[in-house]
Amino acid sequence: MPSINASFGMIRDWNAQDADALMKYANNYRIWKNLRDGFPHPYTIEDARSFIAAAIEKTPATYFAIATAEEAIGGIGIVINQDVHRLTAEMGYWLGEPFWGKGIMTEAATRFTDFAFEEFGLVRIYAEPYAANRVSCRVLEKAGFQLEGRMRSSMIKEGRIGDQLLYAKIRTLQEG
Ligand SMILES: CC(C)(COP(=O)(O)OP(=O)(O)OC[C@H]1O[C@@H](n2cnc3c(N)ncnc32)[C@H](O)[C@@H]1OP(=O)(O)O)[C@@H](O)C(=O)NCCC(=O)NCCS
Repeated sequence: MPSINASFGMIRDWNAQDADALMKYANNYRIWKNLRDGFPHPYTIEDARSFIAAAIEKTPATYFAIATAEEAIGGIGIVINQDVHRLTAEMGYWLGEPFWGKGIMTEAATRFTDFAFEEFGLVRIYAEPYAANRVSCRVLEKAGFQLEGRMRSSMIKEGRIGDQLLYAKIRTLQEG
């Protein structure tokens, strides 16, 4: 994909040189606890290499790095659904802890959804943050997502069952 320029740097494709930075920032319990268990913890250099290899191999690419001019500092991506849901996608993201609270993910999520609607012809992008993850909910609200509901007892993390909130952003098609 073409890089998306932003005030923090850019959203761009992953490349093999990102493995060290990916391991450095992704290896963080405070990130892992808000993500699915498929996100490794601890996050090793092998995990970083195999994730990047899979991201590079995927056509079309749907997982991207959030990066400053120096290094990758986070990730953002979508999983496009199938069959009658093929115009919808789930979005996921995380950011290295030293970069939290600067508005980076709000800008990244806003720019990335604009890009993904256009690039993949989607009409709906949604996210399912854990209900306790108020920061992520705030990011979604500021990026133009609307709260559609509460998915009660929909997940289990660290042995505890919890709720998720369903947020979605709908593409507004231009008339004429
Ligand atoms: C969620 C995450 C990506 C946020 O990134 P970020 O760049 O720090 O977010 P931003 O700075 O753009 O926005 C944070 C917003 O949450 C608000 N916020 C911060 N702490 C908060 C809290 N405890 N409760 C409520 N809102 C909070 C901020 O004030 C800001 O809103 P504001 O601009 O209205 O003040 C980052 O914390 C992260 O990677 N977390 C772990 C992984 C994760 O949760 N991924 C999402 C899974 S759905």
